Amino acid sequence: MFHLDDVRFLPEHFHHHAAIEAIAAEAFGPGRFARTAERVREMAAHAADLSFVAEHSGEIIGSVRLTPIRVGGAPSLLLGPLAVRPDYKNRGVGKALMRLAAEAAREAGEGSIILVGDPPYYQPLGYRPLPLNAVTMPGPVDPRRVLGLELREGGLDGLQGPVRAR
Ligand SMILES: CC(C)(COP(=O)(O)OP(=O)(O)OC[C@H]1O[C@@H](n2cnc3c(N)ncnc32)[C@H](O)[C@@H]1OP(=O)(O)O)[C@@H](O)C(=O)NCCC(=O)NCCS
Repeated sequence: MFHLDDVRFLPEHFHHHAAIEAIAAEAFGPGRFARTAERVREMAAHAADLSFVAEHSGEIIGSVRLTPIRVGGAPSLLLGPLAVRPDYKNRGVGKALMRLAAEAAREAGEGSIILVGDPPYYQPLGYRPLPLNAVTMPGPVDPRRVLGLELREGGLDGLQGPVRAR
């Protein structure tokens, strides 16, 4: 029997890397390296202290990463990949990872998080669509899927321009 209470949420450590890569491969397949968000992550290293794994019975079952970026001149974070192993989906693990990452980023003094994803999943977590085409990603994206979360009042204001490594 699975209980969310039995899941341990831990900051990412380098010994998790192989498991995180396997989860991403399972979730997104070989085409994942062509994803536009992945291009950003190739330009910039993710912040391990703002990235988390979910562990259940000694196994890594989910992961989320945040990568420090700039949008135009303004600092922000790019969230992703977020993935949960198929056998553990729809049990709250993804949302718990999302909340943990946002809280850690807020405590670290960050102002915002952006991502490319499905609005129906992310809007209940506080993400909202950014003004269409305000943020330029290093590759094609559906602008309706570019979402942002304010970590402090006005944190999304002025996010405009190309996404670059911080
Ligand atoms: C998306 C993902 C991380 C969600 O993780 P999860 O642990 O299964 O999600 P949670 O248990 O926190 O939330 C489940 C809820 O989200 C909904 N949901 C899941 N994916 C969704 C999507 N793409 N769009 C809208 N709603 C979605 C579920 O229907 C469920 O709704 P309910 O609570 O009303 O039953 C997981 O399904 C996954 O790894 N998918 C493949 C990789 C992926 O698409 N990552 C996101 C990239 S944008």
